[in-house]
Amino acid sequence: MDLKSLIRDIQDFPKPGILFRDITTLLRDPDGLRYTIDFLAQKCFESEIQPDCIVGMESRGFIFGAPLAYKLGCGFIPVRKRGKLPAAVHSIDYQLEYGTDSLEVHQDALNPGSKVLIVDDLIATGGTASATAKLVQTIGCELVGFGFIIELRELQGRQYLPDVPIISLVEY
Ligand code: PRP
Ligand code: ADE
Repeated sequence: MDLKSLIRDIQDFPKPGILFRDITTLLRDPDGLRYTIDFLAQKCFESEIQPDCIVGMESRGFIFGAPLAYKLGCGFIPVRKRGKLPAAVHSIDYQLEYGTDSLEVHQDALNPGSKVLIVDDLIATGGTASATAKLVQTIGCELVGFGFIIELRELQGRQYLPDVPIISLVEY
């Protein structure tokens, strides 16, 4: 299936000069959605990635991470932006284009030694994924890979990620 044909390009969103890759058009397509999750699961299988849990980042990482966890038969753990999680959290600051923000995960969500696959819809600069990797590694988890639907190659985000398998289904 041609996933690119289901991803819509929006010029100058959220600000001038950004070409936004909009996955909502893929999500509303029943065959496209099923194919995306199945393809991601197949790539994990081929890369011999067998996580104990999937960690997905707010908000678009939730959309793909949770069904992939269902498919792989493991649990899903949300990493959220600052102040959203109700129980005690581990936090990490990360760099945005302007200023910094924090990502958080519940302290009791992950056990040291757990094998973690990090899933998000898209990797651009790699800031979000590398901060999430540091968060799970600080807890003592074993990072076993990253899964993305979209990789923006030009931005070279993967160079900031630890040396584990990186799956992406569509490249621009
Ligand atoms: C987007 C996207 C990734 C991140 C990628 O999320 O879903 O999480 O940016 O960019 P990076 O590789 O440069 O860090 P965003 O922060 O816009 O939040 P959203 O998913 O809630 O829209
Ligand atoms: N997140 C960061 N860069 C993005 C882009 N170009 N399209 C969609 N989401 C993004």
